[in-house]
Amino acid sequence: MRRPAILAALGAAALAGGATIALAQAGQDVDDETVAAQPQVAEQPQGRPPAPAPITLSTRPGATGGEALFIDKCIMCHGPDGMGTGLLGRDRPVALLEARDNLPAQFVIVAARQGIGNMPAIPRGEVSDEELQAIADYLAAGPHVEQPS
Ligand code: HEC
Repeated sequence: MRRPAILAALGAAALAGGATIALAQAGQDVDDETVAAQPQVAEQPQGRPPAPAPITLSTRPGATGGEALFIDKCIMCHGPDGMGTGLLGRDRPVALLEARDNLPAQFVIVAARQGIGNMPAIPRGEVSDEELQAIADYLAAGPHVEQPS
């Protein structure tokens, strides 16, 4: 059992030595001009602005009640750049549900429970009746944010 251990140790030493040499060589080969020519930060693909940062309970730490529930259960689709926002944006001037002043609570409840258009129905196991009522009341009391132009 000794020999394999020694061989393994030798192998590891050889690998480490090789890596050191490779690093040293790389260091020698790279001159200042080459470094300057490398883009330092990956560039954005042409014509596509960076996606907005997602809204979560930690980016809105003050949220409570229906607002906190909306952030937890709906904003992944209904936040800026969300799937619901994109689809709604095609035929509604105000796509963010939180920016609307015309959302009756009952409409929100029916839309969420039955699904609407491309939005899947949200079952009670995911959002309870009490939670959905709180979300609907919160949205009906809007607008809470501005629709970005
Ligand atoms: C999986 C993504 C997704 C989730 C999660 C989601 N929605 Fe939606 N929602 C959509 C999409 C997509 C639409 C647009 C449907 C269409 O017009 O085809 C939409 C539309 C709606 C509408 C209709 C708005 C209008 O003016 O017609 C309401 C109200 C709504 N959602 C409420 C909610 C609530 C409340 C929640 C959280 C409990 C929620 N949604 C969660 C994707 C989602």
